[in-house]
Amino acid sequence: MSLLAALQCQNTERPPIWLMRQAGRYLPEFRELRKKHPILQICHKPELATEVTLMPFKRFPFDAAILFSDILTIPQAMGFTVHFRENFGPIIEHPITTTKQIGTLPHINLDEKLSFLPPAISAIKRELSVPLLGFAGAPFTLASYLIEGKTNRDLKLTKQWLMQEPKAFHTLLNTITDHVIAALKIQIAAGVDAVQLFDSWAGQLTPHHFTTFCTPYLQKILDAIHPRPTILFCRGSSYYTTHLAALNPTAISLDWHADLATIRQKHPTPLALQGNLDPSILFGSPTTIKQEVTRLLTQMQGDPGYIFNLGHGILPDTPLDSVHTLIDTIKSH
Ligand code: CP3
Repeated sequence: MSLLAALQCQNTERPPIWLMRQAGRYLPEFRELRKKHPILQICHKPELATEVTLMPFKRFPFDAAILFSDILTIPQAMGFTVHFRENFGPIIEHPITTTKQIGTLPHINLDEKLSFLPPAISAIKRELSVPLLGFAGAPFTLASYLIEGKTNRDLKLTKQWLMQEPKAFHTLLNTITDHVIAALKIQIAAGVDAVQLFDSWAGQLTPHHFTTFCTPYLQKILDAIHPRPTILFCRGSSYYTTHLAALNPTAISLDWHADLATIRQKHPTPLALQGNLDPSILFGSPTTIKQEVTRLLTQMQGDPGYIFNLGHGILPDTPLDSVHTLIDTIKSH
């Protein structure tokens, strides 16, 4: 249970390791299963979500599992039609275009809409000997999907909303926040040991917009699920460590743009730190992987609150042997 110890900054052994997207497309057995089932079908069928969550453990001794689901199950539960187009990513049909739409978002019973989560979580917990992480998208990132209707790096429409209709945008963020809290409470009641919030697109904002449209809602979620351990992830987290640490989460998950040791100096325990190997390093030779992983391990040597992870999800074509090299390097350090 070294993950839970590290989250409490009380780990005395080697750092625990898990990888974002560890049950994803780099696994041939996942790609095989995906030929038969669309991504949301895997999320909705507890037997499939269980099978996929446990898939990486047949190959790798990770120290934590993450529930197989997607951040877009919440918008879907809110009544939006979500689907995934091959080689394109998520599509939200009829995205939000008017303030009126925001005012008329119905209040829905998530227990019913997310009823597929508890049986999956119970089944996974029965099989698993390491902690299970639940997760949700953070309000800003989910709002950006509801407005853009797809992944859109520059967030052009979302930024227009927050400049032109900030009040309506806050209403939308508040509604989403209530749903995120409800979804996390369902996962916690069903048995997840900790949760991670993914604010994937928050790094696109200016610091002022970040503190106006992201952090107040992250704080609301943290308060609502306290004292359950919570890891905050955002792409761009390296720029925002001060803002994120001020929210008092259990851990922050860092991208690869900053040196972990420097961040640790600024933010001492009891804040746990997770990260931050550049996922592309897993396309390097075994020697390069060992060198880069050892560099991180040496920097964080003896840190009771360090969790090894990548700076973002493992990339789809990552060689399986690289993951073996990564884990062997950590376990033998
Ligand atoms: O990490 C895990 O192993 C748990 C499962 C998980 C999925 N999505 C399954 C999935 C998690 C934690 C997510 C979170 C998620 N989903 C995020 C936040 C994390 C991040 O990467 O920043 C976002 C932005 C999404 C929305 C989403 N879902 C995108 C952008 C995509 C990629 C589409 C593509 O074609 O690349 C998805 C699909 C998705 N969700 C996959 C997986 C494993 C890709 C696999 C596939 O298409 O088979």
